[in-house]
Amino acid sequence: MNFQLTENQRMIRDMAADFAAKKVAPGAAERDVNETFPADIVAEMGSLGLLGMNVPEQYGGAGMDMVSYVLAMEEISAACASTGVIMSVNNSLVCWPLEEYGTEEQKQKWLAPLARGEKLGAYCLSEPNAGTDAANQMTTAKRDGDFWVINGMKNFITNGASADTHIVFAQTDPELRHKGIYAFIVDAKAEGFSIIAKEKKLGIRASDTAQLAFDNVRIPADQQLGPDGKGFKVAMSTLDGGRIGIASQALGIAKAALEASVEYAKQREQFGRPIAKFQAIQWKISEMSTRYEAARLLTLRAASMKDAGENYGKESAMAKLYASEAANYIADEAIQIHGGNGYSKEFPVERYFRDARITSIYEGTSEAQRLVISGYHLR
Ligand code: CAA
Repeated sequence: MNFQLTENQRMIRDMAADFAAKKVAPGAAERDVNETFPADIVAEMGSLGLLGMNVPEQYGGAGMDMVSYVLAMEEISAACASTGVIMSVNNSLVCWPLEEYGTEEQKQKWLAPLARGEKLGAYCLSEPNAGTDAANQMTTAKRDGDFWVINGMKNFITNGASADTHIVFAQTDPELRHKGIYAFIVDAKAEGFSIIAKEKKLGIRASDTAQLAFDNVRIPADQQLGPDGKGFKVAMSTLDGGRIGIASQALGIAKAALEASVEYAKQREQFGRPIAKFQAIQWKISEMSTRYEAARLLTLRAASMKDAGENYGKESAMAKLYASEAANYIADEAIQIHGGNGYSKEFPVERYFRDARITSIYEGTSEAQRLVISGYHLR
């Protein structure tokens, strides 16, 4: 078993770390406070190949492996978790299903601009009554000649207010439950598509999370993505990879919180010496560091299994479950180490704490990950 990164993987990690330090970290705290979408940063990420990392070059992507994607996602998310999720959704939840299930024409028309970062994508699965129960889709799609007509509402859609291209799931026959679900590609300019509201959030406040309405949105039949009745399979298999992205985002937050804590513990003096000299702090740092490394190994393993063409559904759920819970724990302990300062916006750890919280909710709650993992053992 080889735990060493290749020369190429190191190069990509270093490039992402350099970009994160120079372009993403400055202003992250301000964007969080003002809920400012990092449009300029996202545009630059597109030209660096960070928005279509795993897409083959022939479709405008960077043609890199999943391990490189984890490394880059971690660096970007350590600087700004909001920017991390924008990147993750475009790569994992939009580019991947287009590459995996799209026709050649769909790849040329829809995937290439997304992979080049000229356009941004969103993944529209969640609805007011379809959260963990994702198959309970109320958005409908009705065939009308050479068109599909979509009606319904989606909520908690990352990039929802900024995206140009939406992957939309809709029900064609409620009696068929998940077997009636189809996937579609919808242009944000389509008539009948509208942004109802943007969520006011606890964390990842610089990313936009929107509620969307589809009012008789009429799309050509060639914008159906994947085979008839396989929309739920498209949704679930997409989330298998998406969960590696969110695990990587959690790793970034955990790394930032750990590094800030180490730095602070060395400088902050109480009782006449740096608090790093106290065993209470040393034990916290050890536990935080060990959980971070365990999360990292699980995430890189899931990524390398995907690269090797193996089934990675269980491993991606494990990585997402463990890394998100580790990030929450580490960010919480980071605040404890910082004491009162950790509770203040003068220090970044309160942002890490708020940003970490979503990682154990979106792309499947920790409870949903446990369902997925146990399903591999018990079914
Ligand atoms: N790949 C391919 N097919 C899959 C699959 C996968 N990973 N998982 C399930 N399926 C298939 C099954 O094989 C089954 O198909 P057949 O009937 O043909 O055999 C079908 O899907 C139904 O499977 P289940 O009975 O297991 O489905 P379920 O309705 O019981 O749901 C669940 C299981 C684990 C709860 C699932 O619904 C789930 O993962 N829920 C969480 C949803 C989620 O992650 N939402 C996140 C929203 S997206 C988001 O957050 C994005 C963002 O903006 C950041």
